[in-house]
Amino acid sequence: MPDHPEKRTVKVCIIGAGPAGLLLARLLEQCGIASVVLERRSREHVEKRVRAGLLEWSTVEAFRAAGVAHRLDRHGMVHDGMELRHDGAAFRLAFSELTGVPMVVYGQQEIVKDLIGARLESQGEIHFGVTDVRICQVGVDGSLVQCTLDGIPVEISCEFLAGCDGHHGVSRAAIPAQRRSSHQWAYPFAWLGVLAKAPPLSPELIYAVTDRGFALQSMRSPDVSRLYLQVPPNEPIHLRSDEEIWHELDLRLTGGTGKLPTGTITERVLVGLRAHVEEHMQYRTLFLLGDAAHIVPPSAAKGLNMAVADARLLAEGLDHWYRSGRRDLLDGYQSHSLRRAWHGQEFSEFMTSLLHVSPGESAAQRRMRRARLDLLRRSSTAATAFAEQYVGLSRP
Ligand code: APR
Ligand code: PHB
Repeated sequence: MPDHPEKRTVKVCIIGAGPAGLLLARLLEQCGIASVVLERRSREHVEKRVRAGLLEWSTVEAFRAAGVAHRLDRHGMVHDGMELRHDGAAFRLAFSELTGVPMVVYGQQEIVKDLIGARLESQGEIHFGVTDVRICQVGVDGSLVQCTLDGIPVEISCEFLAGCDGHHGVSRAAIPAQRRSSHQWAYPFAWLGVLAKAPPLSPELIYAVTDRGFALQSMRSPDVSRLYLQVPPNEPIHLRSDEEIWHELDLRLTGGTGKLPTGTITERVLVGLRAHVEEHMQYRTLFLLGDAAHIVPPSAAKGLNMAVADARLLAEGLDHWYRSGRRDLLDGYQSHSLRRAWHGQEFSEFMTSLLHVSPGESAAQRRMRRARLDLLRRSSTAATAFAEQYVGLSRP
């Protein structure tokens, strides 16, 4: 960086253009708070990155309130229940009936496209391909960030810094080591996810627990399925041929009846199942949001919903601060978000252990897992408690 980078000032500097950063920028814009979004990757890359896509109703409402739900309302696949298959039996858990709230399938990259479209339309500042973001200072009254924008070295002085740069970003490391503490663990399996031009087997999600491992049927449209297989954690992504993947999915999802509709696989991804919680989500004028602060295994698809909740909470705190000069909501950001993150983590852990066969699992552990599944079928109280967590109602 040269001695005299161009100096800019902005109220809020947002690092990362995933759902957390983009939604925060949008919500701040609605409150009249200026921000700049700095994203390391290209626009094309972030818009094509296929991730999970199961939205809680409160997440849908957040996108509606942000004025970015036109396509979501048209193409989102609203559904009222899910199916759990195990030991040759299947039962439907009618979460809408149990909780009054449905769920919606809508790919995360579509949300990212909608938010980027809205940001550009309103001429909000957003920069892609910014590969050298450096947090130089995090102060009590503001922070300093350096980077290169359109070939020009700049120094951005901001009142608040929002670290929305995911698990591998730079924001987390800007909190001094002595102020940081975190928890992390990994599960001994991964998911091989595929996107396929094939109609979904069912309009509702199917979670299949078998002795061969877990499989999930989800969808993206009436003609596109999203399917996952539990695989060993280090399995090479191209180890299985497409035919082998379809065969294994059919075995786990339908018992090998050949009823699973097949088609061209257009995308593969290997997702490690791991968890991380950063106990310090705020330091002076820096706030961490979404995956920068907490990651959950994908079993319950809570990552996106938790990122959205963080963006809403921080936007509310900043709005309150700029309107009233009171920091109470901002100061409560960490305790509120962290409490919620642990609830999300706990349910994700529950779903993960309910659905997967662990390597070396004992016969007793397997029997207890089956008993837990059976309980959901037999007890409406257990099913309701599960449904409240699945739709996100019982998270603080
Ligand atoms: N500088 C600028 N941008 C960065 C940097 C950096 N040093 N490091 C990472 N980024 C960008 C990434 O390229 C990405 O676009 O930050 C963005 C983080 O976005 P996400 O990973 O989507 O994280 P988040 O917005 O918190 O959303 C969480 O995403 O990973 C899924 O399952 C997760 O659904 C959850 C959601
Ligand atoms: C998805 O559609 O990608 C999805 C759905 C439910 C999950 C995980 C992923 O639990």
